[in-house]
Amino acid sequence: MDLGLDGKRALVLGASRGLGMAIAKSLAAEGAQVFAAARSKDKIEAWSAGTDGVTPVALDLARIEEVDALADMLLQDGGVDIIVNNGGGPPPGTAAGANRADWIAHFEAMAANIFHLDTRLLPAMQERGWGRIISVASSGVEQPIPNLALSNGIRSAVIGWSKTLANEVAADGVTVNVVLPGRIHTQRVDELDAAAAKRTGKDVADVAAASRGTIPAGRYGKPEEFADVVTFLASARAGYVTGSRIRVDGGSIKSI
Ligand SMILES: NC(=O)c1ccc[n+]([C@@H]2O[C@H](COP(=O)([O-])OP(=O)(O)OC[C@H]3O[C@@H](n4cnc5c(N)ncnc54)[C@H](OP(=O)(O)O)[C@@H]3O)[C@@H](O)[C@H]2O)c1
Repeated sequence: MDLGLDGKRALVLGASRGLGMAIAKSLAAEGAQVFAAARSKDKIEAWSAGTDGVTPVALDLARIEEVDALADMLLQDGGVDIIVNNGGGPPPGTAAGANRADWIAHFEAMAANIFHLDTRLLPAMQERGWGRIISVASSGVEQPIPNLALSNGIRSAVIGWSKTLANEVAADGVTVNVVLPGRIHTQRVDELDAAAAKRTGKDVADVAAASRGTIPAGRYGKPEEFADVVTFLASARAGYVTGSRIRVDGGSIKSI
């Protein structure tokens, strides 16, 4: 299947490792020109060495001046055709224990600054009559994950924003979708399993096995499996898919 991605300009956020890196690699392999952004530009330079079509960019999503500088830089050459909204997850914690400062700081980095960046890049997509905006959220927006109050709450705002925007720009050829990872085997998941093992005094292999046991597929997903879905949504072939959320979770969510 020709995905029609050859020569498309794509911005992938949170692309120094994990899901963002897998998505950036997948889009580049399909011929897209990828701007891969994260705070650790050196890590992007390391994984993209020898890969055609990837431009590493230093970006801290918590710093609005850096977000605006990136938009300025991209708009000098007409902006981008595809945006993948992704970034770091917030720290764990209960809803009752979360304080106002944490809500505000993480809402800025995970939502407000991304909405702002996308809003700046959107008019160029509308003028061309073609665009793709894809946000990485979490299965926690459908089934809130205990002790991840900031994630469950802020990512739900991304869902509401995406659906509202999807309706506003569908007639301009711009699609807006959200992809929900369940448990995809990235470094972050290894770190979470290690933290759970430390907290409970259990062996990390037992913690990971118990976690895999809750997934109908019986295993963690591969970053490439997640990136394949995002790449399809970014493609010309997905032009009639908009305002949707798509799970990549091995069946974890307990409803259809
Ligand atoms: N993997 C899963 O199964 C899963 C499940 C549910 C939700 N998620 C969410 O999906 C997202 C990606 O997951 P992942 O497993 O790939 O996470 P990850 O390995 O922690 O990667 C996060 C990426 O975001 C970047 N980042 C973090 N803070 C940033 C900031 N302030 N500005 C710019 N970039 C920033 C990181 O790079 P730098 O540190 O270099 O900036 C890194 O490239 C996360 O938000 C995660 O919580 C993942």
